[in-house]
Amino acid sequence: MRSHRCGDLRASDGGRTAILCGWVDGRRDHGGVTFIDLRDTSGIIQVVFSSDVSARAHDAAQELRGEFCIKVTGEVRARRPGTVNDNLATGEIEVAAEELEVFSRSETPPFQIDDHQEIEESLRLKYRYLDLRRGRMQANLKLRHAIISAIRSFFDEEGFVEIETPMLTRATPEGARDYFVPSRVHPGSFYALPQSPQLFKQLFMVAGLDRYYQIVRCFRDEDLRADRQPDFTQLDLEMSFVEQEDVLEVAERMFKHVWREALSVELADFVRLTFAESMERFGSDKPDLRFGMEIKDLGPALSSTEVKIFRSVLDSGGAVKAIAVPGRGALARKDLDALVDEAKALGAGGLVWAGVTSEGLRSPLAKLFGDDERAGLVAAAEASEGDLILVVADHDPGVVHKTLGALRGRLAGRFGLIPERDRSDPEAWKFAWIVDFPWFEWDEAEKRWDPIHHPFTGMVEDTVQYLETDPGKVISKSYDITLNGWELASGSIRIHDRKMQERVFEALGISRDEAQAKFGFLLDALRFGPPPHGGIAPGIDRIVALAAGETNIREVIAYPKTQTAHDPLTGAPAPVTPDQLAALHLQTTHPPNPGPI
Ligand code: AMO
Repeated sequence: MRSHRCGDLRASDGGRTAILCGWVDGRRDHGGVTFIDLRDTSGIIQVVFSSDVSARAHDAAQELRGEFCIKVTGEVRARRPGTVNDNLATGEIEVAAEELEVFSRSETPPFQIDDHQEIEESLRLKYRYLDLRRGRMQANLKLRHAIISAIRSFFDEEGFVEIETPMLTRATPEGARDYFVPSRVHPGSFYALPQSPQLFKQLFMVAGLDRYYQIVRCFRDEDLRADRQPDFTQLDLEMSFVEQEDVLEVAERMFKHVWREALSVELADFVRLTFAESMERFGSDKPDLRFGMEIKDLGPALSSTEVKIFRSVLDSGGAVKAIAVPGRGALARKDLDALVDEAKALGAGGLVWAGVTSEGLRSPLAKLFGDDERAGLVAAAEASEGDLILVVADHDPGVVHKTLGALRGRLAGRFGLIPERDRSDPEAWKFAWIVDFPWFEWDEAEKRWDPIHHPFTGMVEDTVQYLETDPGKVISKSYDITLNGWELASGSIRIHDRKMQERVFEALGISRDEAQAKFGFLLDALRFGPPPHGGIAPGIDRIVALAAGETNIREVIAYPKTQTAHDPLTGAPAPVTPDQLAALHLQTTHPPNPGPI
């Protein structure tokens, strides 16, 4: 039907006849001549309708409006001098229309198809097919395709096999709520949609399929954020006869391959941080390494302080730490008060601020410090004149790290402290491995120890001894990949010893019967010669969002849900008829609620 795509034509095509299909992006009339910007997925080209070339086509063009779908035949020619558009790849040329066919007309769209418009989210999602006509969205989906293609070519080359796993299955333990699907033929029973293929991939290893991967949809009913959707996509992989280093090596090489293929960037080797180091220096297990502002310990500088709040914290073995915010030493009082409130909302008892000025420290506590102490504090915080020092003291060092880490991230964004870099610059991509996570975390609300990763994660051998006596000391063989403040991937070496797996369930307070009921199929499999194995699962949506320079993963998902897990396009989730419910042996206690909450 067509000879070219709109965006592919160049000056070298001058004199050729082009047959183009696409959508009317805009129309202008000038002295009896009609100009159309014609758009398809490759780009935009200017089409000129003038009666000199074809009176019939020119007359027909008068009915054209935005988003009409048309076919145009005409000669490619150079634009007149002075009318060249440098912002358009096809800006040197235009097509002089000889024939016009209108495939279909369009009503006025609910928003302009334009990359520079801010459009309300629910409107964008309701008319997603119009939203997806925008160049930015098409570029994002093409980048997603390029990234997935590069992933597949990498794993093909490495001898991995892509195998699918069931969507209708049993609950998988990744810590979120499950989505359930009622069974019609087994009244009262439910399938769960997988939170990840974790157990199936471990069974592949028992089966001897020693290098597995899958680009797979996962489902989690959890609170949504910019980096979370209820259904999302993982690159899931697992390998047998490997140790932690082997998995890290393959995954890092895969990311380098993907960045090279999809973005033409040669990535540097990933930084490696232990969990403890990452918390101490950045107050986060997903540190943004594009800027400094590291957390500094003020303890030694304040060792003989008489300032009460610091004295009592230091005496109780707590921590007094700080970050230095570059160039913000003269921040207004009301902004500083707001920062104190922000720190309190993050869980700290308070926040002490100190501006470093040429006359000394500007701080509510300035008078309480001796001269040496003042100088020691500035030096320990690694602050310079003009900087703002933010100090948090707490009996629990975890609170200090968490508060300063959160402030570090927020203030870097708020004050523009993250260097702007082009996506083609390798320095724009600060990948890191976080290793040596604790195996357990204490859930204060439930008063119990929970796994930080999942219960199938292996333990560093010489810390297994603490499993029953001091769980906080057990270190796991798990690892994360982080990029610019986002967690991109998690994985671990798994437990392949049945007795050990049973011991872990016991330590987690899961009874033998419960373990057998929930994970009996895994425990059974571990009786039949399981190999040592491990793997990792990077989130595809997060990878593509960062690679595309987006801050929300819904910008790289064709049909995402809103913040309340609603799909304005299809209206899902939606009530079903009483007959449908009856066939599933179900009754609801809630009246149907067709709209978003
Ligand atoms: P985990 O639960 O850490 O590990 O998930 C791995 C990666 O999946 C992505 N991810 C999400 N992306 C978008 N929306 C969500 N709701 C969401 N939840 C997770 C993240 C995350 O790093 N089975 C283990 C992996 C393993 O041990 O091999 C697992 O699923 O990028």
